[in-house]
Amino acid sequence: MTCRQRRGSLDRGVGRSAIPRGAALLVLCAVLALGGCEKKSGARTAPGPGTGGGSSDAAEILFGEVASLTGPEATFGQSQSRGIALAVKEINEAGGVLGRPIRVITYDNQGKPTESAAAAHRLVVRDRVHVLLGEVASSRSLAMAPIAEEHQVPMITPASTNPRVTEGRKWVFRTCFIDPFQGRVMARFAREELGLRRVAVLRDVRNDYSVGLANFFVESFRELGGEVVSDQSYSAGDIDFRSQLTEIRARNPEAIYVPGYYTDVGLIARQVRELGMKVPLMGGDGWDSSKLYEIGGEALEGSFFSNHYSFENPDPVVQGFIARYREAYGEVPDALAALGYDAARLAADAIARVGSLERAAIRYALATTRDFRGVTGTITIDENHNPVKPAVVLEIRNRGATFAKTIEP
Ligand code: PHE
Repeated sequence: MTCRQRRGSLDRGVGRSAIPRGAALLVLCAVLALGGCEKKSGARTAPGPGTGGGSSDAAEILFGEVASLTGPEATFGQSQSRGIALAVKEINEAGGVLGRPIRVITYDNQGKPTESAAAAHRLVVRDRVHVLLGEVASSRSLAMAPIAEEHQVPMITPASTNPRVTEGRKWVFRTCFIDPFQGRVMARFAREELGLRRVAVLRDVRNDYSVGLANFFVESFRELGGEVVSDQSYSAGDIDFRSQLTEIRARNPEAIYVPGYYTDVGLIARQVRELGMKVPLMGGDGWDSSKLYEIGGEALEGSFFSNHYSFENPDPVVQGFIARYREAYGEVPDALAALGYDAARLAADAIARVGSLERAAIRYALATTRDFRGVTGTITIDENHNPVKPAVVLEIRNRGATFAKTIEP
């Protein structure tokens, strides 16, 4: 694990909470009355210095971030991190939360579940963060979640869409829609917009997200009267997909659904074309990376994927975020940057609403979030700790993702 720490400076005004201060106190009292709070010891103030590297100022609010800053999906972690950093910088410039600045401690998990668990553990036990942020990949959030539960620390995954990440958990939340919906979005798009009847599926069996999303897509596509003519699998990191693709070609599908991550998808797209297949590929949010177009090139033209946001959305909230992100990083934010931004702001908003740094109070505030205005949509957290949000379908044209359609839940 490697560590990065960031802290913004204090001045301008942006941070905003949905509930006025008086109400926040009432909420806190209710939480205390219900006995929902953790032990009194030192919980009201930010934790003191850890033993070792993760030193912290008593006046700070600590967000502990786990991210794949390196490894095969490095753009996922980098984007998440940038989104979080921008949100925290803006909040701190507006005076922080409860008069305190937020500091983010980020550990790189190299794209590995075991490293994600180790990083979460270190953030919770040694750095004593108030909130855990991360991961992008569902398999890695699934590795972190038991640590949040065991140590009773609120965790927000910006982007993990597998239902099991939050299912049955008290301390884990997310700012994105979930895969039963995302699978249905693409099944409907394939049937109703593209008029397809016969599709093939190629899933990554080492990836909880990919397996789940493939299942949800297949189920919905069949319900809508479509036929899945071939269902093949690979393992993340494979480089030769020709035998599966030859099987698929023999079944003559009208499209191939590939719910994987961008590095594999880019290679798969090239091999699909090498084998002479001209049909479009379809996928999910795991495609979202500028690297996808570098790896897949021409082979991806005319393909479609579902995602959390489109940079073409004219909404001033979205365009304002894009402008500030571009100024900070010199690039257009992808969905992960937008979701990271929303997750950090939601955490800050929850703390502001409840007026406390007690972990149980923050958890309660997150669980009762209503109409939080994010750049990826409006977030109301349901009883399973998931927001209900629309998805967009994007079409790949000229090596970029163009808005095709919004699909409401
Ligand atoms: N939803 C993916 C997962 O759960 C992660 C992801 C989200 C990737 C958004 C890219 C964009 O694994």
